[in-house]
Amino acid sequence: MTNSILEARNVIFEYRHGFPTLKDINIAFPEGQNIGIVGESGSGKSTLLRLLLGIHRPSSGEILFMNKKLDLSDRERSREFRRSVQVVFQDPYSSLDPRQRIDRLIAEPLRSLGLSKGKLEAWVNAQIADALTSVGLSTDSLLRYPSEFSGGQRQRIAIARAIVCNPKILLADEPVSALDVTTRVHIIELLSQLSKTRGLTIAMVSHDLSVVASLCNQTIVLKKGEIVEYGNTAGVLGSPSQPYTQKLIESLPRLPH
Ligand SMILES: Nc1ncnc2c1ncn2[C@@H]1O[C@H](COP(=O)(O)OP(=O)(O)O)[C@@H](O)[C@H]1O
Ligand SMILES: [Mg+2]
Repeated sequence: MTNSILEARNVIFEYRHGFPTLKDINIAFPEGQNIGIVGESGSGKSTLLRLLLGIHRPSSGEILFMNKKLDLSDRERSREFRRSVQVVFQDPYSSLDPRQRIDRLIAEPLRSLGLSKGKLEAWVNAQIADALTSVGLSTDSLLRYPSEFSGGQRQRIAIARAIVCNPKILLADEPVSALDVTTRVHIIELLSQLSKTRGLTIAMVSHDLSVVASLCNQTIVLKKGEIVEYGNTAGVLGSPSQPYTQKLIESLPRLPH
């Protein structure tokens, strides 16, 4: 597979020896293809994201970044990987340090990746302001603290922090599950807009198939650590090949259209 940002090849992952949580996973994340990962609770979705983030290493098989085996011991490659692959988690209340001001929270990846080194303060401020306005918040927010924002606004701030270093791919683990229905729609619209305007590829784990349908061209269905469906979203959702997927479609909540 060419020009994939990330790829999992024959990946098996065991938290406990002899009990695979992920079984022979093969997926590619090509540039410009948003991919939805769905499956019932405990099917291994978050574990898969942690492998793609390099937090866990495969028990066997490999993770590829830009068509090369992921090697976090190489400092340059590791930095490029961490810049290019960003993540947003479910809970915007625990993911933002309450003691940090918004400007510092958003600047954190620039600093920790050394991207602001040798740059003028004005350059850093311009990057922060650009990220913040891209997620629909005004620069008035910069001097405030997370507690002054709603759940949806906090998720926007978490997204601003994730995009400030211009990543290639955003991995989102149930990014709207903690939000109310109206806010969910707005955050998904924002992600869809960012994928178009910034050329950002999105891989999103969700319980909600209608969320996946509106954002993702491709869908993967995981069942007990195995991929049971993988293809165009319309095909997977429109004519699922497995009773498991059919059941998942029926049991999951949908957004009002
Ligand atoms: N840190 C961990 N140690 C041991 N088992 C884990 C750990 N995290 C998750 N698991 C187990 O791995 C399986 C998949 O979990 P997870 O990836 O969180 O699924 P999902 O995100 O689809 O709900 C579950 O059976 C879960 O209990
Ligand atoms: Mg999970």
